[in-house]
Amino acid sequence: MNRLNGKTAVITGGATGIGRAAAKRFIEEGAFVFIFGRRQKALDAALADFGPNARAVKGSVSDLADLDRLYAAVKAERGTLDIVFANAGAGSQLPLGEITAEHIDEIFDTNVKGSIFTVQKALPLMGEGGSIILTGSSAGTTGAPGFSAYSASKAAVRNLARTWAEDLKGTGIRVNVLSPGATATELAKEALGEEGQKAYGAMTPLQRMADPAEIGAVAAFLASSDSSFMTASEVAVDGGLAQL
Ligand SMILES: NC(=O)c1ccc[n+]([C@@H]2O[C@H](COP(=O)([O-])OP(=O)(O)OC[C@H]3O[C@@H](n4cnc5c(N)ncnc54)[C@H](OP(=O)(O)O)[C@@H]3O)[C@@H](O)[C@H]2O)c1
Repeated sequence: MNRLNGKTAVITGGATGIGRAAAKRFIEEGAFVFIFGRRQKALDAALADFGPNARAVKGSVSDLADLDRLYAAVKAERGTLDIVFANAGAGSQLPLGEITAEHIDEIFDTNVKGSIFTVQKALPLMGEGGSIILTGSSAGTTGAPGFSAYSASKAAVRNLARTWAEDLKGTGIRVNVLSPGATATELAKEALGEEGQKAYGAMTPLQRMADPAEIGAVAAFLASSDSSFMTASEVAVDGGLAQL
């Protein structure tokens, strides 16, 4: 499929996990992709795998000057931008009674503030036909022990798409939320541990965790004109985890 031929995409957190799988899929479908993240080694390893139609910019989504450098690089090489996948995310567990200010800051600075400025700073480069994909989570609608800050941050992301669909009226730019369930990535390993991952696989109606490529495939759908009448939606790619 060449649904993204000639399109330019930014994927935050594009060096690993879901972002990396989405970047590979976008490139296979014809896009030119900028990935963004804090670890140079991870960015380099991903670029070596992606081939010529990818660039990497090092930085943090919670640092506004880093985001300015990202979009300056996009503007200098491509002029305009068609797709933003705000995928970078942080998640760890602390139960009520043990929550710290640092825990809240890390999660909200990355997942909420980071998503807001990733999108807001992209807008001057975007126009008619643009697609913004925000990353929610099955955790945004369910309750799970110790995940209150993470879940609340993802519930906030869900509302950003509803509100921004209003703010973007008349621009031709769509905005949707992609909400994965348990997916086999570094983040899941760190947040859930081996036992937790097994438990999430067992709780999921499809009886396993997702492969990141299964989430990347839906990101490509939301990025493409195949989803041209979708905005403000949440698309659950969770094996049924949050749907029963
Ligand atoms: N895996 C799951 O089960 C699951 C389920 C639901 C939702 N999600 C969501 O899916 C998204 C991707 O996560 P993943 O599972 O693919 O985990 P991952 O492999 O750990 O990917 C997270 C990516 O985000 C980047 N990142 C983190 N903080 C950043 C920051 N401040 N600035 C820039 N980049 C940052 C990381 O790169 P650096 O560390 O190099 O910056 C990393 O590449 C997240 O939003 C996560 O909440 C995951």
